Amino acid sequence: MRSRGRFVVTAALPYANGELHLGHIASTYLPSDIFVRYLRLKGHEVVYICATDDFGTPILVKAEKEGKTPEEYVRYWHRRDAEDFEALGISFDLFHMTSSEECVGFAQYVFKRLYENGYIYKKRIEQFYCEYDKKFLPDRYVIGTCPYCGAKDQYGDGCEVCGRVYKPTELIDPRCAICGRRPVLKETEHYYFRLSSLASELRDWLEGNEKLQPDVKKYVLRWIEDGLEDWDITRDISWGVPIPLEDASGKVLYGWFDNHLCYISSTLLYLERKGIDGKEFWNSSTIYHFIGKDIVYHHYLLLPAIRIAMGREYKLPDYMPTRGHLLLEGRKFSKSKGWYVSLRDFLNRFDPDYLRFYLASITPSGQNDVNFEWEGFKAKINNELVANIGNFVYRALIFVKREGGVVPEPDGFEELDEALVGDLKNSPKLVGDLIERNELDKALKEIEALSSKCNGYFQHKEPWRKRRGYRTCLYLSINAVRSLAILLFPYIPFSSERIWRMLGLEGDVASQSWDDAGRLGVKPGHRIGEVSIPFEKV
Ligand code: MF3
Ligand code: ZN
Repeated sequence: MRSRGRFVVTAALPYANGELHLGHIASTYLPSDIFVRYLRLKGHEVVYICATDDFGTPILVKAEKEGKTPEEYVRYWHRRDAEDFEALGISFDLFHMTSSEECVGFAQYVFKRLYENGYIYKKRIEQFYCEYDKKFLPDRYVIGTCPYCGAKDQYGDGCEVCGRVYKPTELIDPRCAICGRRPVLKETEHYYFRLSSLASELRDWLEGNEKLQPDVKKYVLRWIEDGLEDWDITRDISWGVPIPLEDASGKVLYGWFDNHLCYISSTLLYLERKGIDGKEFWNSSTIYHFIGKDIVYHHYLLLPAIRIAMGREYKLPDYMPTRGHLLLEGRKFSKSKGWYVSLRDFLNRFDPDYLRFYLASITPSGQNDVNFEWEGFKAKINNELVANIGNFVYRALIFVKREGGVVPEPDGFEELDEALVGDLKNSPKLVGDLIERNELDKALKEIEALSSKCNGYFQHKEPWRKRRGYRTCLYLSINAVRSLAILLFPYIPFSSERIWRMLGLEGDVASQSWDDAGRLGVKPGHRIGEVSIPFEKV
């Protein structure tokens, strides 16, 4: 990644049906945001896209329960999510909606392409129908007992207890989710996507792409070996992308057909508003889709299959960083059981950067689950952010402030000084390489290691004794604070900007260059700004 590159980075689309919680943040939004902020500092052209995932039966069922139209309902959640993301400093270039004109239009365009290319066919099937509500009952419109483990009150598309996926008609003792009556079987016509015909192309793509996470690739390849079934992409409901065929009136596309296409249509919209050819940009970019491990099937199979079936008009992803679930004190987050922490509640109590710092430092690059613990949160913030980084930043700044607020002329370099200059010089590459490999937690550890070296340096040099060389110590320490502000920006952007103002430097951190963090950018004679304690203990 030496020269100026192009990147499209997407974060999995949150369903427009409830509060964002820390699980979403840890696996998807924070890692992608850290990465994007880094790419921007490196001077790359980046488009960072997200949207609410608006369609689907769960949303329609919930909107109906609240007596709202689905449009009103998703608008509300779109606005809420946008506010929450902003409060956390998630810096999307565009946060769109799958129910927007652009995304709907693009999904219909793709459907037609696939239809013309022979990848979609019609089939008569039997489906549950509620004679009382006069509705077909796909997915979550049916409730019953799981045919595999016997768990009661499971939805028609899969069991939350044993994790198996099945068809609604396999449920034992099925009931309509709206009125509770027993549904009947009724014939209907559905459209199917020939996923099975793409097995070998998918295998080739997976095997040939060195950049995809190997652990994920392994089990996706196993799914292909086990055999792929064609995929029912029709729903007989009113809320979805209308199927753009004459004889398909009243039918809409299954949400998982259209939602990921919104990655592309939103990118096109964003670029076209800026007068840039979006398709050309997409196809000349490195494409990243950040996801959580629960949606691997959709992203490693359905998404590439649809792009292949389109004749690769839009290139397939290069990277799909896939992270695990977040546990809360050792137990899986569960909204229905009330065992979760919402983003909004958290931010009402703590600084957004504290959450970013904590989650970034505990979330590894692979699919292992991560455990959120309140004690761990407190310890990380107090012992690392406050006691290491905050301590050094404040010590250096307040010392210079009390000496008149002007960065002194260095008075001789010795070995310790040279070593610090060397550490600063190496840090952008050292940290940057880790970020590029998506080892965001390890990269943060490196920054912390640099900060503790700075602390050790300051302690050893004892500038308060004002021996020869103490001016060099102050000069270098102020420069180290500047370097840290840049290196920390992807992780804790609000605090970085605050430290930048304390340094009294021009502009903001967002417009600096990453590699510049390795240089001594503060000159002797520079006057620093107002200094305050950068981080308080929790
Ligand atoms: N809304 C889905 C979920 O939360 C994710 C959709 S990501 C998409 O599981 F790109 F495929 F849309
Ligand atoms: Zn019913």
